[in-house]
Amino acid sequence: MIKASDFGSDFLWGVATAAPQIEGATSSYGKGPSIWDNFSNRNGKIKNGHKMNVACDFYHRYQEDIALVKLLGFKIFRFSIAWSRILPAGRGEVNQEGLRFYHRVIDECLTHGITPYITLYHWDLPQALEDEGGWTSFSINAAFNAFVSICALEYGDKVKNWIVLNEPFGYTSLGYMLGIHAPGKTGLSNFFPAVLHTAIAQAEGGKILRAEISNANIGTTYSCSEIIPHTQSDNDLLAAKRVDCLMNRLFVEPAQGLGFPTGDWEVLEKFQMEYGTWRLQDRMRFDFDFIGLQNYFPLTIKYNAFIPVIQAWEVKAKSRKKPHTAMGWEINANSFYNIIKQFAAYPNIKNLMITENGAAYHDKVDNGNIVDAERIEYFKIYLEALLKTKRDGINITGYMAWTLMDNFEWAEGFNARFGLVHTDFKTLKRTIKYSGYWWQEFLKN
Ligand code: NOJ
Repeated sequence: MIKASDFGSDFLWGVATAAPQIEGATSSYGKGPSIWDNFSNRNGKIKNGHKMNVACDFYHRYQEDIALVKLLGFKIFRFSIAWSRILPAGRGEVNQEGLRFYHRVIDECLTHGITPYITLYHWDLPQALEDEGGWTSFSINAAFNAFVSICALEYGDKVKNWIVLNEPFGYTSLGYMLGIHAPGKTGLSNFFPAVLHTAIAQAEGGKILRAEISNANIGTTYSCSEIIPHTQSDNDLLAAKRVDCLMNRLFVEPAQGLGFPTGDWEVLEKFQMEYGTWRLQDRMRFDFDFIGLQNYFPLTIKYNAFIPVIQAWEVKAKSRKKPHTAMGWEINANSFYNIIKQFAAYPNIKNLMITENGAAYHDKVDNGNIVDAERIEYFKIYLEALLKTKRDGINITGYMAWTLMDNFEWAEGFNARFGLVHTDFKTLKRTIKYSGYWWQEFLKN
Protein backbone atom coordinates (compact mmCIF):
# COMPACT_ATOMS: atom_id res chain seq x y z
CA MET A 1 0.00 0.00 0.00
CA ILE A 2 1.45 3.35 -1.06
CA LYS A 3 2.13 5.89 1.70
CA ALA A 4 2.85 9.63 1.63
CA SER A 5 6.06 8.98 3.58
CA ASP A 6 7.35 6.84 0.68
CA PHE A 7 7.92 10.18 -1.12
CA GLY A 8 10.16 11.50 1.66
CA SER A 9 9.45 13.91 4.48
CA ASP A 10 10.14 17.04 2.43
CA PHE A 11 7.77 16.14 -0.40
CA LEU A 12 5.08 18.83 -0.75
CA TRP A 13 1.41 17.85 -0.85
CA GLY A 14 -1.20 20.31 -1.93
CA VAL A 15 -4.57 20.93 -3.41
CA ALA A 16 -5.20 23.28 -6.33
CA THR A 17 -8.00 25.67 -7.30
CA ALA A 18 -8.53 28.70 -9.57
CA ALA A 19 -10.31 32.00 -8.93
CA PRO A 20 -12.88 31.92 -11.76
CA GLN A 21 -13.88 28.36 -10.89
CA ILE A 22 -14.58 28.94 -7.20
CA GLU A 23 -14.85 32.59 -6.18
CA GLY A 24 -18.19 33.87 -7.46
CA ALA A 25 -18.81 37.56 -6.55
CA THR A 26 -17.96 38.22 -10.18
CA SER A 27 -19.34 41.74 -10.27
CA SER A 28 -19.16 42.79 -6.64
CA TYR A 29 -16.61 44.49 -4.42
CA GLY A 30 -15.22 46.50 -7.30
CA LYS A 31 -14.32 43.58 -9.56
CA GLY A 32 -14.35 44.30 -13.29
CA PRO A 33 -15.69 41.81 -15.84
CA SER A 34 -13.42 39.07 -17.14
CA ILE A 35 -13.62 37.27 -20.48
CA TRP A 36 -15.04 34.26 -18.65
CA ASP A 37 -17.79 36.28 -16.98
CA ASN A 38 -18.90 37.49 -20.39
CA PHE A 39 -18.37 34.22 -22.22
CA SER A 40 -20.40 32.25 -19.70
CA ASN A 41 -23.25 34.71 -20.12
CA ARG A 42 -23.38 34.07 -23.87
CA ASN A 43 -26.07 31.60 -24.89
CA GLY A 44 -24.97 28.12 -25.72
CA LYS A 45 -21.38 28.45 -24.56
CA ILE A 46 -21.66 26.56 -21.26
CA LYS A 47 -23.46 23.24 -20.77
CA ASN A 48 -26.89 23.68 -19.22
CA GLY A 49 -26.38 27.45 -19.33
CA HIS A 50 -24.53 27.36 -16.02
CA LYS A 51 -23.24 30.73 -14.81
CA MET A 52 -20.17 31.64 -12.81
CA ASN A 53 -21.50 34.51 -10.77
CA VAL A 54 -21.77 32.47 -7.55
CA ALA A 55 -19.71 29.33 -8.36
CA CYS A 56 -18.65 27.93 -4.95
CA ASP A 57 -18.95 31.35 -3.29
CA PHE A 58 -15.37 31.00 -2.11
CA TYR A 59 -15.26 34.80 -1.90
CA HIS A 60 -17.47 34.62 1.19
CA ARG A 61 -16.60 31.10 2.36
CA TYR A 62 -12.82 31.06 2.03
CA GLN A 63 -12.39 30.48 5.76
CA GLU A 64 -14.52 27.34 5.68
CA ASP A 65 -12.69 26.13 2.57
CA ILE A 66 -9.19 26.74 3.89
CA ALA A 67 -10.24 24.94 7.07
CA LEU A 68 -11.11 21.98 4.81
CA VAL A 69 -7.65 22.09 3.23
CA LYS A 70 -6.24 21.88 6.72
CA LEU A 71 -8.63 19.14 7.81
CA LEU A 72 -7.70 16.98 4.81
CA GLY A 73 -4.05 17.39 5.78
CA PHE A 74 -2.67 19.29 2.78
CA LYS A 75 0.24 21.64 3.39
CA ILE A 76 -0.18 23.71 0.21
CA PHE A 77 -3.17 25.63 -1.07
CA ARG A 78 -2.89 26.74 -4.67
CA PHE A 79 -5.25 29.48 -5.80
CA SER A 80 -5.21 32.19 -8.43
CA ILE A 81 -5.68 35.93 -8.37
CA ALA A 82 -8.46 37.30 -10.54
CA TRP A 83 -6.72 40.02 -12.52
CA SER A 84 -9.90 42.10 -12.88
CA ARG A 85 -10.49 41.99 -9.13
CA ILE A 86 -7.20 43.85 -8.69
CA LEU A 87 -7.38 45.93 -11.87
CA PRO A 88 -11.03 46.19 -12.95
CA ALA A 89 -10.06 47.64 -16.33
CA GLY A 90 -7.00 45.41 -16.72
CA ARG A 91 -4.59 48.27 -16.10
CA GLY A 92 -4.62 51.61 -14.32
CA GLU A 93 -6.75 52.06 -11.25
CA VAL A 94 -6.30 49.45 -8.50
CA ASN A 95 -9.30 48.10 -6.60
CA GLN A 96 -8.26 48.23 -2.95
CA GLU A 97 -11.01 45.83 -1.90
CA GLY A 98 -9.60 43.27 -4.33
CA LEU A 99 -6.13 43.63 -2.82
CA ARG A 100 -7.59 43.19 0.66
CA PHE A 101 -9.47 40.03 -0.31
CA TYR A 102 -6.32 38.14 -1.29
CA HIS A 103 -4.57 39.37 1.87
CA ARG A 104 -7.39 37.74 3.82
CA VAL A 105 -7.01 34.47 1.89
CA ILE A 106 -3.23 34.46 2.32
CA ASP A 107 -3.47 35.28 6.03
CA GLU A 108 -6.01 32.53 6.55
CA CYS A 109 -3.63 30.03 4.96
CA LEU A 110 -0.70 31.22 7.04
CA THR A 111 -2.70 31.07 10.26
CA HIS A 112 -3.42 27.40 9.54
CA GLY A 113 0.20 26.66 8.65
CA ILE A 114 -0.70 26.20 4.98
CA THR A 115 1.69 27.50 2.33
CA PRO A 116 -0.02 29.53 -0.39
CA TYR A 117 1.00 28.99 -4.02
CA ILE A 118 -0.36 31.81 -6.13
CA THR A 119 -1.15 31.47 -9.83
CA LEU A 120 -1.07 34.87 -11.51
CA TYR A 121 -3.07 33.94 -14.58
CA HIS A 122 -5.66 31.18 -14.62
CA TRP A 123 -7.52 32.21 -17.80
CA ASP A 124 -9.71 35.09 -16.59
CA LEU A 125 -8.40 38.00 -18.64
CA PRO A 126 -10.03 41.36 -17.88
CA GLN A 127 -12.63 42.00 -20.59
CA ALA A 128 -11.28 45.54 -21.05
CA LEU A 129 -7.99 44.04 -22.30
CA GLU A 130 -9.78 41.57 -24.54
CA ASP A 131 -11.49 44.56 -26.11
CA GLU A 132 -8.00 45.63 -27.26
CA GLY A 133 -7.36 42.18 -28.73
CA GLY A 134 -6.49 40.27 -25.55
CA TRP A 135 -3.63 37.82 -25.92
CA THR A 136 -3.47 38.49 -29.66
CA SER A 137 -2.41 42.07 -29.05
CA PHE A 138 1.14 43.22 -28.39
CA SER A 139 -0.18 45.60 -25.70
CA ILE A 140 -1.05 42.64 -23.46
CA ASN A 141 2.55 42.22 -22.35
CA ALA A 142 2.92 45.63 -20.72
CA ALA A 143 -0.47 45.21 -19.04
CA PHE A 144 0.43 41.75 -17.71
CA ASN A 145 3.80 42.95 -16.45
CA ALA A 146 2.15 45.80 -14.56
CA PHE A 147 -0.31 43.36 -12.97
CA VAL A 148 2.52 41.02 -11.94
CA SER A 149 4.43 43.92 -10.36
CA ILE A 150 1.43 45.01 -8.34
CA CYS A 151 0.89 41.48 -6.99
CA ALA A 152 4.58 40.95 -6.27
CA LEU A 153 4.90 44.22 -4.34
CA GLU A 154 1.66 43.69 -2.48
CA TYR A 155 2.04 40.04 -1.45
CA GLY A 156 5.73 39.24 -1.94
CA ASP A 157 6.58 39.59 1.75
CA LYS A 158 4.10 36.89 2.70
CA VAL A 159 4.04 34.66 -0.36
CA LYS A 160 7.19 33.11 -1.79
CA ASN A 161 5.75 30.50 -4.15
CA TRP A 162 4.46 31.78 -7.47
CA ILE A 163 3.11 30.29 -10.67
CA VAL A 164 3.14 32.71 -13.60
CA LEU A 165 0.68 31.05 -16.00
CA ASN A 166 -1.72 28.17 -15.85
CA GLU A 167 -1.66 25.90 -18.91
CA PRO A 168 -0.79 28.37 -21.67
CA PHE A 169 -1.62 25.79 -24.32
CA GLY A 170 -5.04 25.34 -22.71
CA TYR A 171 -6.19 28.91 -23.05
CA THR A 172 -4.48 29.76 -26.33
CA SER A 173 -5.84 26.68 -28.09
CA LEU A 174 -9.33 26.44 -26.58
CA GLY A 175 -9.87 30.20 -26.37
CA TYR A 176 -8.04 31.59 -29.42
CA MET A 177 -8.06 28.71 -31.92
CA LEU A 178 -11.06 26.48 -31.27
CA GLY A 179 -13.38 29.06 -29.72
CA ILE A 180 -14.80 26.69 -27.12
CA HIS A 181 -13.38 28.65 -24.19
CA ALA A 182 -13.32 32.41 -23.57
CA PRO A 183 -12.93 34.65 -25.47
CA GLY A 184 -14.29 32.32 -28.16
CA LYS A 185 -11.90 33.31 -30.95
CA THR A 186 -10.89 30.93 -33.72
CA GLY A 187 -8.22 30.32 -36.31
CA LEU A 188 -4.46 30.45 -36.62
CA SER A 189 -4.43 34.21 -37.10
CA ASN A 190 -5.60 34.51 -33.49
CA PHE A 191 -3.80 31.47 -32.12
CA PHE A 192 -0.26 32.31 -33.22
CA PRO A 193 -0.11 35.88 -31.89
CA ALA A 194 -1.72 34.64 -28.65
CA VAL A 195 1.00 31.99 -28.38
CA LEU A 196 3.75 34.51 -28.99
CA HIS A 197 2.54 37.05 -26.42
CA THR A 198 1.90 34.27 -23.92
CA ALA A 199 5.45 32.93 -24.32
CA ILE A 200 6.75 36.44 -23.67
CA ALA A 201 4.43 36.89 -20.68
CA GLN A 202 5.56 33.70 -18.96
CA ALA A 203 9.22 34.76 -19.10
CA GLU A 204 8.70 38.43 -18.29
CA GLY A 205 6.35 37.54 -15.44
CA GLY A 206 9.09 35.30 -14.02
CA LYS A 207 11.71 38.04 -14.36
CA ILE A 208 9.53 40.57 -12.54
CA LEU A 209 8.86 38.17 -9.66
CA ARG A 210 12.60 37.49 -9.44
CA ALA A 211 13.40 41.20 -9.29
CA GLU A 212 10.69 42.16 -6.82
CA ILE A 213 10.57 39.27 -4.32
CA SER A 214 13.49 38.05 -2.29
CA ASN A 215 13.82 34.26 -2.01
CA ALA A 216 10.95 33.66 -4.42
CA ASN A 217 10.29 30.16 -5.74
CA ILE A 218 9.05 30.82 -9.25
CA GLY A 219 7.32 28.36 -11.53
CA THR A 220 4.83 28.10 -14.31
CA THR A 221 2.55 25.23 -15.33
CA TYR A 222 1.96 23.18 -18.45
CA SER A 223 -0.76 20.81 -19.45
CA CYS A 224 0.90 17.69 -20.80
CA SER A 225 -0.17 14.39 -22.30
CA GLU A 226 1.80 11.47 -23.58
CA ILE A 227 1.11 11.34 -27.30
CA ILE A 228 0.77 7.74 -28.46
CA PRO A 229 0.76 7.01 -32.20
CA HIS A 230 -2.20 4.82 -33.15
CA THR A 231 0.01 2.57 -35.26
CA GLN A 232 3.69 2.53 -36.14
CA SER A 233 3.00 3.76 -39.68
CA ASP A 234 5.07 6.76 -40.79
CA ASN A 235 1.91 8.80 -41.15
CA ASP A 236 0.75 8.11 -37.61
CA LEU A 237 4.21 8.64 -36.15
CA LEU A 238 4.53 12.03 -37.83
CA ALA A 239 1.01 13.04 -36.84
CA ALA A 240 1.84 12.17 -33.22
CA LYS A 241 4.99 14.26 -33.43
CA ARG A 242 3.05 17.31 -34.64
CA VAL A 243 0.57 17.00 -31.79
CA ASP A 244 3.46 16.62 -29.34
CA CYS A 245 4.95 19.91 -30.63
CA LEU A 246 1.68 21.66 -29.94
CA MET A 247 0.54 20.05 -26.73
CA ASN A 248 3.79 19.44 -24.88
CA ARG A 249 6.61 21.49 -26.35
CA LEU A 250 5.14 24.80 -27.46
CA PHE A 251 5.78 26.80 -24.28
CA VAL A 252 8.38 24.90 -22.30
CA GLU A 253 10.99 25.16 -25.07
CA PRO A 254 10.92 28.95 -25.57
CA ALA A 255 11.27 29.38 -21.79
CA GLN A 256 14.51 27.42 -21.98
CA GLY A 257 15.87 29.56 -24.77
CA LEU A 258 15.21 26.89 -27.40
CA GLY A 259 12.59 28.90 -29.30
CA PHE A 260 9.47 27.24 -30.68
CA PRO A 261 9.81 23.59 -31.79
CA THR A 262 10.02 24.51 -35.46
CA GLY A 263 12.21 21.59 -36.52
CA ASP A 264 9.49 18.99 -36.14
CA TRP A 265 6.61 20.78 -37.82
CA GLU A 266 6.84 23.11 -40.78
CA VAL A 267 3.72 25.04 -39.72
CA LEU A 268 5.65 26.26 -36.68
CA GLU A 269 8.54 27.14 -38.94
CA LYS A 270 6.16 29.34 -40.95
CA PHE A 271 4.85 30.90 -37.73
CA GLN A 272 8.41 31.71 -36.68
CA MET A 273 9.16 33.33 -40.03
CA GLU A 274 5.94 35.29 -40.19
CA TYR A 275 6.19 36.69 -36.67
CA GLY A 276 9.97 36.91 -36.48
CA THR A 277 9.92 35.00 -33.22
CA TRP A 278 13.62 34.11 -33.34
CA ARG A 279 14.38 37.77 -32.58
CA LEU A 280 12.45 37.41 -29.34
CA GLN A 281 14.26 34.34 -28.08
CA ASP A 282 15.83 36.20 -25.14
CA ARG A 283 12.59 37.82 -24.16
CA MET A 284 10.94 34.39 -24.03
CA ARG A 285 13.66 32.82 -21.89
CA PHE A 286 13.45 32.45 -18.12
CA ASP A 287 15.12 30.06 -15.78
CA PHE A 288 12.19 28.83 -13.67
CA ASP A 289 12.84 27.37 -10.23
CA PHE A 290 10.23 24.73 -10.90
CA ILE A 291 8.03 23.55 -13.72
CA GLY A 292 4.49 22.54 -12.85
CA LEU A 293 3.07 19.64 -14.83
CA GLN A 294 -0.66 19.04 -15.10
CA ASN A 295 -1.63 15.68 -16.43
CA TYR A 296 -4.95 13.98 -16.81
CA PHE A 297 -4.77 11.63 -19.82
CA PRO A 298 -2.69 10.47 -22.77
CA LEU A 299 -3.82 10.94 -26.37
CA THR A 300 -3.79 8.30 -29.08
CA ILE A 301 -3.27 10.03 -32.40
CA LYS A 302 -3.72 8.93 -35.98
CA TYR A 303 -3.07 10.64 -39.27
CA ASN A 304 -6.10 12.21 -40.93
CA ALA A 305 -5.65 14.16 -44.15
CA PHE A 306 -9.03 15.87 -43.78
CA ILE A 307 -8.12 17.76 -40.62
CA PRO A 308 -6.76 21.16 -41.64
CA VAL A 309 -3.20 22.12 -40.68
CA ILE A 310 -2.44 19.46 -38.08
CA GLN A 311 -3.74 16.48 -40.13
CA ALA A 312 -4.12 14.45 -36.99
CA TRP A 313 -7.06 13.00 -35.16
CA GLU A 314 -7.60 11.62 -31.68
CA VAL A 315 -8.80 8.04 -31.35
CA LYS A 316 -10.90 8.34 -28.22
CA ALA A 317 -10.50 6.09 -25.20
CA LYS A 318 -14.15 5.10 -25.44
CA SER A 319 -13.84 3.81 -28.99
CA ARG A 320 -10.74 1.84 -27.98
CA LYS A 321 -12.69 0.46 -25.02
CA LYS A 322 -10.17 1.86 -22.55
CA PRO A 323 -11.06 2.83 -18.99
CA HIS A 324 -11.95 6.50 -18.82
CA THR A 325 -13.36 9.14 -16.47
CA ALA A 326 -16.68 10.99 -16.77
CA MET A 327 -14.90 13.44 -19.10
CA GLY A 328 -14.08 10.53 -21.45
CA TRP A 329 -10.40 10.95 -20.51
CA GLU A 330 -8.35 7.77 -20.63
CA ILE A 331 -7.10 6.49 -17.27
CA ASN A 332 -3.54 5.42 -17.86
CA ALA A 333 -1.04 5.87 -15.04
CA ASN A 334 1.78 4.56 -17.18
CA SER A 335 1.33 7.54 -19.50
CA PHE A 336 1.67 9.80 -16.45
CA TYR A 337 5.02 8.15 -15.75
CA ASN A 338 6.09 8.54 -19.39
CA ILE A 339 5.19 12.21 -19.74
CA ILE A 340 6.99 13.13 -16.51
CA LYS A 341 10.06 11.40 -17.92
CA GLN A 342 9.69 13.32 -21.18
CA PHE A 343 9.79 16.67 -19.36
CA ALA A 344 12.52 15.56 -16.96
CA ALA A 345 14.76 14.95 -19.98
CA TYR A 346 15.13 18.69 -20.65
CA PRO A 347 18.57 19.44 -19.22
CA ASN A 348 17.54 22.88 -17.93
CA ILE A 349 14.57 21.80 -15.87
CA LYS A 350 15.78 21.65 -12.30
CA ASN A 351 12.70 20.68 -10.46
CA LEU A 352 9.26 19.35 -11.36
CA MET A 353 6.07 19.55 -9.40
CA ILE A 354 2.74 18.06 -10.31
CA THR A 355 0.53 21.12 -10.00
CA GLU A 356 -2.70 19.36 -11.08
CA ASN A 357 -3.92 15.80 -11.43
CA GLY A 358 -7.32 14.32 -10.72
CA ALA A 359 -10.50 12.88 -12.19
CA ALA A 360 -14.16 13.73 -12.71
CA TYR A 361 -16.85 11.19 -11.94
CA HIS A 362 -20.64 11.27 -11.65
CA ASP A 363 -20.61 11.43 -7.88
CA LYS A 364 -23.85 10.74 -6.07
CA VAL A 365 -24.79 11.69 -2.53
CA ASP A 366 -26.07 8.56 -0.79
CA ASN A 367 -27.42 9.14 2.70
CA GLY A 368 -25.05 12.06 3.16
CA ASN A 369 -22.05 10.03 1.88
CA ILE A 370 -20.24 10.30 -1.42
CA VAL A 371 -18.61 6.97 -2.08
CA ASP A 372 -16.27 7.81 -4.97
CA ALA A 373 -14.26 4.60 -5.06
CA GLU A 374 -13.21 5.17 -8.68
CA ARG A 375 -11.53 8.47 -7.82
CA ILE A 376 -9.63 6.84 -4.96
CA GLU A 377 -8.43 4.15 -7.33
CA TYR A 378 -7.39 6.82 -9.85
CA PHE A 379 -5.27 8.63 -7.25
CA LYS A 380 -3.70 5.39 -6.04
CA ILE A 381 -2.44 4.28 -9.43
CA TYR A 382 -1.31 7.77 -10.45
CA LEU A 383 0.58 8.21 -7.18
CA GLU A 384 2.26 4.85 -7.68
CA ALA A 385 3.43 5.97 -11.11
CA LEU A 386 4.67 9.23 -9.59
CA LEU A 387 6.63 7.36 -6.94
CA LYS A 388 8.25 5.31 -9.67
CA THR A 389 9.54 8.49 -11.37
CA LYS A 390 10.96 9.64 -8.04
CA ARG A 391 12.65 6.29 -7.49
CA ASP A 392 14.13 6.62 -10.98
CA GLY A 393 15.93 9.69 -9.66
CA ILE A 394 13.75 12.42 -11.16
CA ASN A 395 13.72 15.57 -9.07
CA ILE A 396 10.03 15.77 -8.42
CA THR A 397 9.24 17.74 -5.29
CA GLY A 398 5.50 17.98 -4.91
CA TYR A 399 2.02 16.99 -5.97
CA MET A 400 -1.23 18.95 -5.96
CA ALA A 401 -4.56 17.24 -6.40
CA TRP A 402 -7.15 18.83 -8.65
CA THR A 403 -9.26 19.96 -6.88
CA LEU A 404 -10.44 20.93 -3.42
CA MET A 405 -14.15 21.01 -4.23
CA ASP A 406 -16.47 20.54 -7.19
CA ASN A 407 -16.47 23.82 -9.06
CA PHE A 408 -17.15 25.58 -12.34
CA GLU A 409 -15.46 23.36 -14.92
CA TRP A 410 -15.33 25.91 -17.77
CA ALA A 411 -17.45 24.92 -20.78
CA GLU A 412 -18.72 21.88 -18.84
CA GLY A 413 -20.27 24.15 -16.21
CA PHE A 414 -21.02 22.39 -12.92
CA ASN A 415 -21.53 19.04 -14.62
CA ALA A 416 -17.96 17.79 -14.25
CA ARG A 417 -17.12 17.07 -10.63
CA PHE A 418 -13.41 16.85 -9.84
CA GLY A 419 -13.53 17.73 -6.12
CA LEU A 420 -12.36 15.86 -3.04
CA VAL A 421 -15.22 17.74 -1.47
CA HIS A 422 -18.71 17.70 -2.95
CA THR A 423 -20.37 21.06 -3.60
CA ASP A 424 -24.14 21.28 -3.65
CA PHE A 425 -24.55 24.15 -6.08
CA LYS A 426 -28.05 24.98 -4.78
CA THR A 427 -27.26 25.23 -1.08
CA LEU A 428 -23.44 25.59 -1.42
CA LYS A 429 -23.06 22.95 1.24
CA ARG A 430 -19.68 21.19 1.21
CA THR A 431 -19.50 17.45 1.96
CA ILE A 432 -16.20 15.61 2.12
CA LYS A 433 -16.17 12.69 -0.32
CA TYR A 434 -14.63 9.33 0.52
CA SER A 435 -11.68 10.37 -1.65
CA GLY A 436 -11.20 13.37 0.66
CA TYR A 437 -11.09 11.03 3.65
CA TRP A 438 -8.77 8.75 1.71
CA TRP A 439 -6.35 11.69 1.26
CA GLN A 440 -6.65 12.55 4.94
CA GLU A 441 -5.52 9.01 5.86
CA PHE A 442 -2.88 8.88 3.13
CA LEU A 443 -1.26 12.10 4.30
CA LYS A 444 -1.04 10.87 7.90
CA ASN A 445 1.17 7.94 6.97
C1 NOJ B 1 -6.77 22.17 -16.09
C2 NOJ B 1 -7.16 23.54 -15.63
O1 NOJ B 1 -6.06 24.24 -15.16
C3 NOJ B 1 -8.26 23.53 -14.60
O2 NOJ B 1 -8.73 24.83 -14.50
C4 NOJ B 1 -9.32 22.52 -14.97
O3 NOJ B 1 -10.43 22.60 -14.17
C5 NOJ B 1 -8.71 21.14 -14.93
N1 NOJ B 1 -7.62 21.08 -15.89
C6 NOJ B 1 -9.68 20.01 -15.24
O4 NOJ B 1 -10.15 20.13 -16.53
